[in-house]
Amino acid sequence: MTKVDVLLGLQWGDEGKGKIVDVLTPNYNVVARFQGGPNAGHSLEFNKIKHVLHTIPSGIFHTESINIIGNGVVVDPVIFANEIESLRKLGVEPTKNLLISKKAHLIVPSHRELDAASEAAKGKEKIGSTLKGIGPTYMDKTGRNGLRVGDILHPNFKDKYLQLKNKHKQVLKQYDYNPDIEQHETAWFKGIETIREFALIDSEYEVNRYINENKKILAEGAQGSLLDIDFGSYPFVTSSNTVCAGACIGLGIAPSKIGQVFGIFKTYCTRVGSGPFPTELEDEVGQKLRDEGNEYGSTTGRPRRCGWLDLVALKYTVMINGITSLIMTKADVLDTFKTIKIATAYRIDGQETEIYPFDTNAEIEPIYKEFKGWETSLTNIKSEKDFPTELLDYIKFIESETGVPVTIVSVGPDRDATIIRK
Ligand code: GDP
Ligand code: IMO
Ligand code: MG
Repeated sequence: MTKVDVLLGLQWGDEGKGKIVDVLTPNYNVVARFQGGPNAGHSLEFNKIKHVLHTIPSGIFHTESINIIGNGVVVDPVIFANEIESLRKLGVEPTKNLLISKKAHLIVPSHRELDAASEAAKGKEKIGSTLKGIGPTYMDKTGRNGLRVGDILHPNFKDKYLQLKNKHKQVLKQYDYNPDIEQHETAWFKGIETIREFALIDSEYEVNRYINENKKILAEGAQGSLLDIDFGSYPFVTSSNTVCAGACIGLGIAPSKIGQVFGIFKTYCTRVGSGPFPTELEDEVGQKLRDEGNEYGSTTGRPRRCGWLDLVALKYTVMINGITSLIMTKADVLDTFKTIKIATAYRIDGQETEIYPFDTNAEIEPIYKEFKGWETSLTNIKSEKDFPTELLDYIKFIESETGVPVTIVSVGPDRDATIIRK
């Protein structure tokens, strides 16, 4: 019996999960998303084509791999149908190798309105949500009001939809919000028809059958551990469990069947949306990171906040996830930096600590260790033996602090710009 490997982001999302899943897919028979929804934007690049996926697993371009949208995911039929259309334009026919869990929840148009109303009501305290309706959809799931993908197979589906919409209208009234929900319904029901073209499955049975057949499965996380509903910088988080345990819940896999846990982190840090970011740089260094790293959101186009690598946070997420292997991306973005910093501790109220704090509003002063930059282009490097010593020093420090090996280093957005370390 093989075990399921999990790949997930260790920071605030956008660590390069899409690219690395695409690179690793040839080693797997199955790639499965287990949480989140179209708040995710996973980019991958090959043959000079850049593609951004929101709901569909990043293994979809390898036609021999099976891709599963697991029960833990929330699906917006409109966004899903758009993704399918862009894949078809590229000559990829996903009905053959994309399966959807009947237990995945559906995002309805009024969920997006509720998201907008909730954010507007929060004013300056807003989460900075992607406004895709993620929070309200998970609220309906846990509130036991949700609509599931499998419901579309039942004759009373439309009634269930209307019931939910009417419930939402009542809530929206309390927000003094009166949006025209109906204008979105034609596209939404058209999206439902697109979903019907796919195999709608009991994915927990399918996944466990693959495990018993010794098929190799990669679970693809969305967002990052610092956006986890339990362990992230609450309330500035998303509404799902983005950590490794989420793969068990979001796919129906027993914890004993988890194998490798790949944790991805950027060579620095970024965050979109509001919330604490101890190593954030609001100066020209932060702007340089944004420019060199093209740090603008794949889903919303918003400029990402940028800062130095935060080892306090990284060690915390390595711990929560039981990371067995680290993957460092966007190393090339630091090619022209003379010096590079890593935060090794925080100072809070005059006290030094290596604990990621409960109080997200605390005044945190990062304590930095400075490294000499490599000041050379990594873009064309194909093997670890060509790594500059400064880069090796940087990696070795991270390995010794976290106790986990860095097994892959990414030096560009393309599939080929990936170095697997021995
Ligand atoms: P994800 O959400 O974790 O899949 O990450 P995103 O796709 O949202 O953001 C990562 C961005 O960085 C994308 O535009 C990628 O094409 C790009 N990218 C990924 N790896 C690298 C890398 O090693 N170097 C550079 N320069 N860009 C990268
Ligand atoms: P990927 O998978 C980066 C952030 C939002 C906001 C907070 C809550 O591409 O790494 P939500 O829409 O879930 O209500 O937003 O979480 N966020 C992400 N940030 N990458 C993502 O996904 C994100 N998904 C949500 O910006 O701060
Ligand atoms: Mg992204």
